[in-house]
Amino acid sequence: MDFKIKAKTPAAMRHAIEDIPGDKSISHRAIILGSLSSNRVVFTNFLDALDCMHTSNIFQMMGVPIIHSLIDKTVMIDGVGIHGLQQPEDPLYVGNSGTGIRLITGVLSGQIFDSQIYGDESIQTRPMKRVIDPLTLMGAHIKGTLIEGKKDIYPPLTLSGNSGLNGISYTLPVASAQVKSAILFASLYSDTPTIVTEPKKCRDHTENMLKGFGADIQVAGKKIRCSGKNILRNPDTNTAIHIPSDISSAAFFIVLGCLVSSSQLTFTGIGLNSTRVALLHVLLEMGVTLKIQNQKGQDMEPYGDITVATSALHNIEVSEKFIPFLIDEIPILAIAAMFGKGTLKITKAEELRTKESDRISAIVDMVRNMGGTIQEFPDGFELTGPSEFKEFKVNSKKDHRIAMSAIIGAIASGKSAVVEDCECIDTSFPNFFDILRSLNIDFELE
Ligand code: S3P
Repeated sequence: MDFKIKAKTPAAMRHAIEDIPGDKSISHRAIILGSLSSNRVVFTNFLDALDCMHTSNIFQMMGVPIIHSLIDKTVMIDGVGIHGLQQPEDPLYVGNSGTGIRLITGVLSGQIFDSQIYGDESIQTRPMKRVIDPLTLMGAHIKGTLIEGKKDIYPPLTLSGNSGLNGISYTLPVASAQVKSAILFASLYSDTPTIVTEPKKCRDHTENMLKGFGADIQVAGKKIRCSGKNILRNPDTNTAIHIPSDISSAAFFIVLGCLVSSSQLTFTGIGLNSTRVALLHVLLEMGVTLKIQNQKGQDMEPYGDITVATSALHNIEVSEKFIPFLIDEIPILAIAAMFGKGTLKITKAEELRTKESDRISAIVDMVRNMGGTIQEFPDGFELTGPSEFKEFKVNSKKDHRIAMSAIIGAIASGKSAVVEDCECIDTSFPNFFDILRSLNIDFELE
């Protein structure tokens, strides 16, 4: 499916956007922790996009009763406890989700039964050695697939049943929340404590949610200690747990609000976890007018309302410390920078090459096709704005964040454009086009 738009200066937007969908990272973990809990849990604002629905389906295949209400976005999970999963009859399919396959592999490592996990074409090229190595040190038996000419290990993964893991003390070779989470989930099945050290702090939803479900877990700076043999339990079965709306999805419209003249957009209920809000810090440094209100710190994750207004942007060199907290927002930040004066420099972001696409090369191709000036580095890029936009065609490379970034670039630039292969947007943001329509943007999907 292609997105097509005709040249038109975008009209001022003054809207409150109340339907940014639930956070993807938290929704995956909601299914996992809810399933491993020894009692019932209800989550509201669950993200019913393809990625998280695959995770839900996987736990249902392992015998967990899970009921989704797609109308009010709730999910009710009758947790079976950490030892209650049953052997699935078929291989487990994660679709396009790197988070799904890495987190669930952590859980499967501790099961007494054999299993197999795989995904779509893109998943079969995502590196898995980063989870296989630590999980093997814990005593898991995982076999992956080799690809000729490539150095890593890839899905499908085959796991052999295990009667108990051991704790490890492990320093992550890459700042990856997915790898950290796989180890922490496996540590629930180990006899001894596990200590994970992060090279740089990255998103901490697993730690927050494990704590919320009563696990014995302590975080001290970049060290996380989880004692073995934990029991997970929802402490309050009478109250649903609210999943904040995804700041990584809001990011596309936050940038649109900054770029379209005479505009002001407000987003309600957006997750404000400190390990996820670096885009806001960077935009503020670039001169964006932005306000946060109605902050609520309840449940396991904070959230609040974000208002942005049209702003003149100046580009900056992004501090290395922000990169893991900004990793999913770099494509849309590149679009913002095309409208800014000066140079946006991103380095130490080599992890982008292992996402749904090689996102460094995808960003470089996207920006060049739109008329921008960008130089590629092994670990990032340098983009000098403001760009002279031209009529363009961009292929998403089946990467949802590239597709949505190019679409926002098309709308804000006012140029005629085609963005090819937009089905992938459904993996994380099923109502993306509905929100565009609510902003009175004329486009076609073909
Ligand atoms: C995620 C972690 C990030 C991010 C991904 C979701 C998670 O990857 O890119 O979209 O939910 O743990 P890393 O493993 O690189 O941190």
